Amino acid sequence: MAARGFSARISMALAAMVMGAGAASAADAAKAPTFTKDVAPILQAKCEACHRADSMAPMSLTNYQEARPWAKSIKARVAARQMPPWHIDKNVGIQEFKNDRSLSDDQIDTIVRWVDAGAPMGDPKDMPPPIQWPDASVWNFAKLFGGPPDLIVKSPSFTMPAHAQDAWDKRSTPSGVTEPRWVRAIEIRPATIKGRKVVHHALARLSQDDPIDNAAAANNDDDSGVNAGPGLFMEWAVGKQGEIMRPDTGKLLLPGSEFVWDIHYSQAGEEITNNVELGIYFYPKGQEPKYRQVLHLMGTGGIDIPPNTIKGTQGFFVMKQPGRVESFQPHMHLRGKAMMMEAILPTGRTEMLSHVDNFNFNWHNSYYYADDVAPLLPKGTVLRITAWHDNTVANKSNPDPNQWVGSGDRTVDEMAHAWVNVTYMPEEDFKAEVEKRKAATAKTTDLQQRQH
Ligand code: HEC
Repeated sequence: MAARGFSARISMALAAMVMGAGAASAADAAKAPTFTKDVAPILQAKCEACHRADSMAPMSLTNYQEARPWAKSIKARVAARQMPPWHIDKNVGIQEFKNDRSLSDDQIDTIVRWVDAGAPMGDPKDMPPPIQWPDASVWNFAKLFGGPPDLIVKSPSFTMPAHAQDAWDKRSTPSGVTEPRWVRAIEIRPATIKGRKVVHHALARLSQDDPIDNAAAANNDDDSGVNAGPGLFMEWAVGKQGEIMRPDTGKLLLPGSEFVWDIHYSQAGEEITNNVELGIYFYPKGQEPKYRQVLHLMGTGGIDIPPNTIKGTQGFFVMKQPGRVESFQPHMHLRGKAMMMEAILPTGRTEMLSHVDNFNFNWHNSYYYADDVAPLLPKGTVLRITAWHDNTVANKSNPDPNQWVGSGDRTVDEMAHAWVNVTYMPEEDFKAEVEKRKAATAKTTDLQQRQH
């Protein structure tokens, strides 16, 4: 016994010495992640939506030859959580989203270890089959709804020179509807494949005279310089398929409505003329969905940022009916630093919903809550939006920390509001939803407890 223990200790000590003498790197290399086996599946799932031919990112990352030259840059960007663009604070608030494109800690670790090991290719046989990306010239929901959208609204055409500073097209187009119509699905996209190279982001805001929004605007202390009219209709973000309303839920389009575009164009090294198309599927005439979804602008007003300071502002929005908050999208300009959304319940309890701690003006991310965590909030809940602006040199996007900054439309002025989708429901349906949620949560907790 004693002898065996002794020899075991010796061999362990020997092994440690051998490792220290250089076998460590060989052993590490043997278990280092390889491109084909470990890294390619991550790039396919989290990067290719943007990093492939004819998409908006500067380089394609669909195979080893393409990815290898970028290895160092990939490590730097993923380790700093700058890529993929996803700016939710992972430490507070709701963490389950329908459109989460962030990397897990394990995935970041795999990429970092792969680069540190010299970015080996690995066995070509391990390479997963290429992703079949949907044909960009076909509407995503055409199959589901049996044809192209019922209404296609086109933005005015815009020519982006080969080399130019970023440009924002903010013109508008009438919807043309002559009677109220309920919308069940929306899709927005650059009209041409080439257009995808220059359209960094596109938003279509609905402008219509609408009682529900006028009421909301009246209880919102908003002087952020934005017309607090009806909400954003749809945004185009790379990798997003469009938006289908939940069952029996719709957005309402009224006669006289128009779409105000906000299209961010970036140069692509060649002159490209493009426009953006908004495709809308309606509920059949006479079929009115039970629930209305409204995209509200929840603003913080009174922006007044002295030079070389960090400034916080707050805005409040009162829920006049019970409902479910579906999404959160902070909007600020170059000095935007962070934005938080909390719910103050009529019981006095405050709940943290979401915090974007690492705001980046280049990315207008909408964070869509997963179905079973989207906050159900009773009538009278106050949504509190807190925004922080950093007008110091520490903010790398800051064009001039010595300027006094106020509200305005130019990117050198500031804004601070969130676009928040709310589905309103009658009191009894709301109660039923809350009960359903409680039952579902009880079930998972029960399961977790039994597993432990
Ligand atoms: C939503 C679209 C999108 C996704 C998803 C995305 N990227 Fe990017 N990426 C971009 C765009 C656009 C740029 C160029 C602008 C910039 O640098 O922010 C970029 C830039 C980069 C750069 C810097 C290139 C340079 O010029 O130095 C790297 C590296 C990178 N991405 C890696 C990744 C990796 C790795 C993933 C996945 C884990 C990923 N990206 C996911 C859009 C995306």
